[in-house]
Amino acid sequence: MLLQIVNGPNLAKIGRREPEIYGNKSFDDYLLELKSYMPGHDIRYYQSNHEGDLIDALYNAQEDGVQGIVLNAGAYTHTSIALLDAIKAIAIPVVEVHISGVYGRETFRHTSMIAPACAGVIAGFGLDSYRLGIEALLLKLSV
Ligand code: DQA
Repeated sequence: MLLQIVNGPNLAKIGRREPEIYGNKSFDDYLLELKSYMPGHDIRYYQSNHEGDLIDALYNAQEDGVQGIVLNAGAYTHTSIALLDAIKAIAIPVVEVHISGVYGRETFRHTSMIAPACAGVIAGFGLDSYRLGIEALLLKLSV
């Protein structure tokens, strides 16, 4: 399967950003592990701090024939109607993921603008949320 991970703002800093919440491992290191754990799948990765670029990434994924998307929209999760509309506008399943347990954190993190358009939400399993997100996608795609 051709799958895409899309990470939003501040997620390039994982491993150095608030390690007590997000852990010590960089996303690049995690991605290498994930790819070797799932050698049968082509897992693409894109990160941007900019809302419009994330929207373009969703459209580009569809144009490139990506079959499923794991999206950690970071703080845009809680604010972005534009991302919600973009997810609705593409025909491929999107799983919303979060490294941290957003429902145990500040109340502003309890709201997801994008969840209504997503196939499901996985939060609170550290970086393993991405692996679980991919497994959820594969289930959704019945692979
Ligand atoms: C996050 C949770 C968001 O609330 C936060 O703004 C992030 C990371 C997570 O992966 O836990 O940037 O999406």
